[in-house]
Amino acid sequence: MDNNNIKLAVIGAGKWGLNHIRTAYKLLEKNLITVCDINPLREQEVKKISSEISFTTDINTILESKEINSVIITTSAETHYDLAKKFILGSKNILVEKPMTLHSFETEDLIKLANDYDVKLMVGHVLLYHPAVKKIKELITEGLIGRIQYIYSNRLNLGSVRSEENILWSFAPHDVSVIQYLLESYPKKIYAMGSCFLQQNIEDVTLTYLRYPGNINAHIFVSWLHPFKEQRMVITGTKGMLVFEDSLKAEKLKFYPKGFVNINGVIQKFDDNYQVINYPDKQPLEEEQIHFYNCILNNTKPITDGYHALEVLKILEEASKKLKE
Ligand SMILES: NC(=O)c1ccc[n+]([C@@H]2O[C@H](COP(=O)([O-])OP(=O)(O)OC[C@H]3O[C@@H](n4cnc5c(N)ncnc54)[C@H](O)[C@@H]3O)[C@@H](O)[C@H]2O)c1
Repeated sequence: MDNNNIKLAVIGAGKWGLNHIRTAYKLLEKNLITVCDINPLREQEVKKISSEISFTTDINTILESKEINSVIITTSAETHYDLAKKFILGSKNILVEKPMTLHSFETEDLIKLANDYDVKLMVGHVLLYHPAVKKIKELITEGLIGRIQYIYSNRLNLGSVRSEENILWSFAPHDVSVIQYLLESYPKKIYAMGSCFLQQNIEDVTLTYLRYPGNINAHIFVSWLHPFKEQRMVITGTKGMLVFEDSLKAEKLKFYPKGFVNINGVIQKFDDNYQVINYPDKQPLEEEQIHFYNCILNNTKPITDGYHALEVLKILEEASKKLKE
């Protein structure tokens, strides 16, 4: 990749934004031109990464720059749509943190604008750039676990409680995006339940249930009110099961040759020892940014493009509707 053709700005230097800035500085060095945050106090955090990175509190500096062709938006979710729209209208390629917008009609609008202005539109569903998730996709395609029967994902922690969004919107976009990526279809039915304990009308715990065509089911359990971190996804198939536990320090991905077969009407168990599956040691956020830059340089479609973001949003919207019923 010829990084010299990428001239980048990062909007939002909060907790997650600093990870983007650090990664971009590693990948692009001096091509990372500017960081913008409306809070001037964030400048000192940015300068800790490098004094070479320039800082502004005025997004017009970036909008009006002839040099900057790519923007990463990592501000809080409610600002994504307005900022993304401004930068697309300014003919910049954009990578927007999840959720791309708060409403699916806004993402539809961004998709249309990005097509009209011929710029890349990508969402930061970082797990799709995790080498373990790529490995899972490969193994499923190769038929290791046979036909998928059900998937579940637990994303639990004593996490940062947010007041602008509930746990479903904070945590579940990751799980929904991975399940969509693995199943490549859209759920026929969506159910969800949740509970609010800490703030009024903001769920701290939710359980979402998705029924896909072909008798495939998935459920997602998310909570920021949980004693320890657990990020576990289990994919059960007719020939075995894959378990991905990103919250573990080692042996994160395992194959369990376990399940049942029906032999002449008799259901018989098979139950062998698990095998640890290795995958390349790569940083998901780095892989995500490399993908963004490559899509711009090679004019290719991002894996997590606007349409992928839209599917995830529609599922979250339907789940939110069910939470309120
Ligand atoms: N992909 C992931 O795994 C992941 C992880 C954490 C957060 N996120 C997402 O990243 C985004 C940011 O999260 P965070 O935890 O860093 O939030 P944060 O509140 O720590 O930071 C947001 C920053 O944006 C700045 N900001 C707000 N409006 C702005 C504007 N109009 N122009 C410029 N700056 C503005 C704020 O001053 C703040 O510094 C959210 O959308 C969140 O969902 C993604």
